[in-house]
Amino acid sequence: MMGTEDLRHEHNEIGLMLDVLGRICERLDVGENVDPEHLKQIHDFMVVFVDKCHHTKEEELLFPKLESIDGAESEKLIGVLIAEHRTGRKYANAIGEAISNHENIDLQDRSKIIKYGRNYIKLLVQHIDKENNVLFTMAEKKLSGKQNQELFEEFEVMEKEKIGIGEHEQLHRMLHNLADIYL
Ligand SMILES: [Fe+2]
Ligand SMILES: [Fe+2]
Repeated sequence: MMGTEDLRHEHNEIGLMLDVLGRICERLDVGENVDPEHLKQIHDFMVVFVDKCHHTKEEELLFPKLESIDGAESEKLIGVLIAEHRTGRKYANAIGEAISNHENIDLQDRSKIIKYGRNYIKLLVQHIDKENNVLFTMAEKKLSGKQNQELFEEFEVMEKEKIGIGEHEQLHRMLHNLADIYL
């Protein structure tokens, strides 16, 4: 497995989460209720899988490796991508605040979830598109097959250290369960 292939697979999983989040925002927007536990699960996925696992693989392993090979050429794009990770974190935190008292979500919390949920979707959809079609394509040209495979091995170590195999699988089960309910 190549490192960039692993990240593309993770983008598919994140895309599934964004579809679920979109449906949740629609339901909230028309005044329907959403199981508060589902909101908490989506937020956990954003914090643990998207930020702690996926963005860390990119920021700590892929980006530095690419910059060391490619120098200034990829530097500007990487700067933009890191800034977008930061913005995504801000939106996820805002959603986290809105659901902090998740057994009792009031109208204000509801509109905050809709607003930041939709901002998050918009940001991540174009971010993933940019990575898949520009950065990863560039990385696949610049890195040798061996370097890209090594990157995957480093990802595996990081994933185990950051979240552990058990939690990783649990997050994916949770996501697919939500997809069965909402999609
Ligand atoms: Fe990214
Ligand atoms: Fe990514």
